Order: sequence, then structure tokens, then C-alpha cells
Amino acid sequence: MADHEHTSGGFKLPKEVALSILALVFLITVIIFAANYIPSKAMGDRKKVDEEAVATRIQPVAKVELAAATAGGAKVSRSGEEVVKSACFACHGTGAAGAPKIGDKASWGQRLAMGLDGLLKSAIAGKNAMPPRGGSDVSDIELARAIVNMANKSGASFKEPAAK
Ligand code: HEC
Repeated sequence: MADHEHTSGGFKLPKEVALSILALVFLITVIIFAANYIPSKAMGDRKKVDEEAVATRIQPVAKVELAAATAGGAKVSRSGEEVVKSACFACHGTGAAGAPKIGDKASWGQRLAMGLDGLLKSAIAGKNAMPPRGGSDVSDIELARAIVNMANKSGASFKEPAAK
């Protein structure tokens, strides 16, 4: 009788079970195919999307810093050297447009006599080829620091104004 179990072999999968398994295999095949196919097709757009996502994520920080800088916020305001590099050097580093060149004591000499306050007023308003604030959006204090930075390399010994 022990043989009976081995040789029976008559166990039949119910039809429903067989169909479900078939359907499952089909579904898995479709998923694997889709998972492989879709990313490779969308790969081109992916980098762009990532860059946009990063830009969106850092935007609030960038906005806050810009707002603080333009509001003349003492906390995040730029140093004289930073302002000179980014907003003044184009002209004052080279003497372009007739700008008094940094380090050129002769062309700064007369101007330094105006004192820091006078130079600041002049730089805020602009003068001839010098656009107001050098064409930048720097605050008064940042502009003053930039003037001190340039003037002190050109014969002056101004004291950098303290943040209010
Ligand atoms: C587009 C070129 C340009 C840029 C940028 C520029 N300047 Fe000037 N700047 C000039 C010129 C030109 C003069 C000389 C104007 C004159 O005396 O006719 C000048 C003169 C000045 C003077 C002397 C003003 C006076 O009354 O004699 C100061 C101070 C000054 N600039 C500060 C700055 C600072 C600070 C920055 C950066 C925030 C800056 N400039 C950016 C062109 C520029």
C-alpha cells in the first residue's frame, strides 16, 4: 500500500489555480519589462528633471540670502572685497571707461579728498560713466566697504564703517 502514494501521481491542479499562476507570471513579466523599458526611454529627460528639482529645492535659501543682502541686512551682507570682485573690478580693476584704477594713487588722489562720505554719496548717485552703485544692487554699507577696500589700496586709510 505504501507504493500507492508514490505512483498515484494523479494530483491535478485545479483549473482556477493554474490560471491564477499563469496570470501572475504574465503580470510579473509585464512589470519587469515596464521597469526596464520606461527608465531607459525617459533617461534623456531625467537629468533635466533632476537639475530642476535641485534648483527648486535650493531656491528658498537663495531667495532669503538675496533678500537679506539687498535689504542691507548686516548679517549676510558681503565684505568690501567680495563686492569689489563681483561688482566693481570690471571697471576699477582695469581702468575701463576711465574709472580710477585700484592702486593708481594718482587717479584716486583728488577723489580721496572727498572723504568716505563724499565718495559714498558720489557712488550711490553715479558719476559720468560710473553707474549708480556701479550698476549693482549692493546696500549702502556694502558699497561703503567696497569703496574703503579700493581706496585703501590706492593711498587712503579709511576705516571700514561698522554695520548698523
Ligand atoms: C561700468 C564701470 C564701473 C563700475 C562697474 C564701477 N565703477 Fe566706479 N567709477 C567708474 C568710472 C568711469 C568712474 C569715474 C567717474 C568720473 O569721475 O567721471 C568711477 C568712479 C568711482 C568713484 C569715485 C567717484 C568720484 O566722485 O570721484 C568711486 C568711489 C567708485 N567709482 C566706486 C565704485 C564702486 C564701489 C563700485 C562697485 C560697487 C564701482 N565703482 C563700480 C566706473 C565704474
